Amino acid sequence: MNSWLMHALAMTGVFCCRDALSCPTRCTCHFSAKTTEADARLSLFPGDGLPGNTTSLTIQFSNLSVLTAQHLTAVPLLEELHLPPNKLSNLTGEYNELQEIPAHVFHHAPLLNLVLKDNRIFSIHPDCLPNNSNITWLDLSGNHLIKFPMAQLQSLSHLKVLHLSQNKLEELPVGCLIAHPALERLHVDQNKIQSLDVKGFCCSGNLTHILLQKNRLDSLPPTVFQGLKRLEYMDLSDNRLQFLLSGTLDINTSWVELTFNPWHCDAKKEYLWRKLTMESLQSEPKCTTPENLKDCVIATLTRKEMGLPE
Ligand SMILES: *[C@@H]1O[C@H](CO)[C@@H](O)[C@H](O)[C@H]1NC(C)=O
Ligand SMILES: *[C@@H]1O[C@H](CO)[C@@H](O)[C@H](O)[C@H]1NC(C)=O
Ligand SMILES: *[C@@H]1O[C@H](CO)[C@@H](O)[C@H](O)[C@H]1NC(C)=O
Ligand SMILES: *[C@@H]1O[C@H](CO)[C@@H](O)[C@H](O)[C@H]1NC(C)=O
Ligand SMILES: *[C@@H]1O[C@H](CO)[C@@H](O)[C@H](O)[C@H]1NC(C)=O
Ligand SMILES: *[C@@H]1O[C@H](CO)[C@@H](O)[C@H](O)[C@H]1NC(C)=O
Ligand SMILES: *[C@@H]1O[C@H](CO)[C@@H](O)[C@H](O)[C@H]1NC(C)=O
Repeated sequence: MNSWLMHALAMTGVFCCRDALSCPTRCTCHFSAKTTEADARLSLFPGDGLPGNTTSLTIQFSNLSVLTAQHLTAVPLLEELHLPPNKLSNLTGEYNELQEIPAHVFHHAPLLNLVLKDNRIFSIHPDCLPNNSNITWLDLSGNHLIKFPMAQLQSLSHLKVLHLSQNKLEELPVGCLIAHPALERLHVDQNKIQSLDVKGFCCSGNLTHILLQKNRLDSLPPTVFQGLKRLEYMDLSDNRLQFLLSGTLDINTSWVELTFNPWHCDAKKEYLWRKLTMESLQSEPKCTTPENLKDCVIATLTRKEMGLPE
């Protein structure tokens, strides 16, 4: 497939350089010192009509249904491409949404930011991005991906922000982050991830934010977060964790969200209880079991209530 289907109902925001004076028909361009902004209503990619110096392009609420690599040759300086969802699509039911990302489609644009969220993407061609891609921010959240697109993202060695929230990922495959040593933010919340590989973050020393909430994690390897020296925030809420092995949260941040897990509060939970009472983690998880401690905030429990020797 050499084109991709997407749809939207208008086109807003074409940002381009100051000295780009052309503007596609049915677009309104607003020129300022540094950028040009245009609003457009059209159903074909504006192509040749776009200012050749366009560096940022947003297409939304448009009837645009096809975008190919050829289209992007018209904007050789494009650094930002935003294709957010067509919010009206399900009112009409007439349009297809972006489902596949074909080969080579981004090979002709020096993209830095690529936002493809809230479409219905389930498949990404392994060669859709050029080998020397400089993309730092990729947003594929709200799509239908079942597998982490490891091969497809392999060339993104400059990637800093990766959004894969709200997909159907079942795992983070072994080594899936190795190609992205600069990664700072990993958003994989609201998927179906059941476990983390013990070396899952071994080569991700630049990570500052890890969002894993609303998955199906039921245990964590105790050393999985070690080495994340720059970690500032981690969200593990709304998973299936009942207890943590000693050492799991021996990391250099206290901003870890742990609520909405089915914590079982007994002596085996001493590690978590200690972290919560003595190191003031900024989270107030509650016990789910045993029954007599249900809904008690773990940090407020006494040694005796935890079943620990006095
Ligand atoms: C999109 O297509 C529909 C149906 O053909 C039409 O009514 C509408 O005006 C079009 N919208 C734009 C922005 O072109
Ligand atoms: C903008 O495009 C014109 C030709 O279309 C080119 O001469 C000029 O160098 C470009 N400016 C920038 C900043 O890229
Ligand atoms: C239709 O869109 C609305 C607003 O975005 C959303 O709340 C609703 O769940 C959608 N319905 C379907 C069937 O996708
Ligand atoms: C990435 O940046 C380098 C250095 O600026 C440049 O040579 C290369 O062409 C860029 N890659 C792409 C795909 O634009
Ligand atoms: C990109 O890299 C892959 C693997 O290293 C290679 O097979 C492929 O031919 C390269 N593509 C281009 C266009 O250089
Ligand atoms: C952090 O990212 C830089 C590139 O921005 C890379 O050179 C460096 O190796 C990374 N550090 C770690 C610990 O991974
Ligand atoms: C932990 O964070 C503090 C404050 O940001 C910093 O001074 C310290 O060097 C860090 N320690 C490690 C082991 O990274």
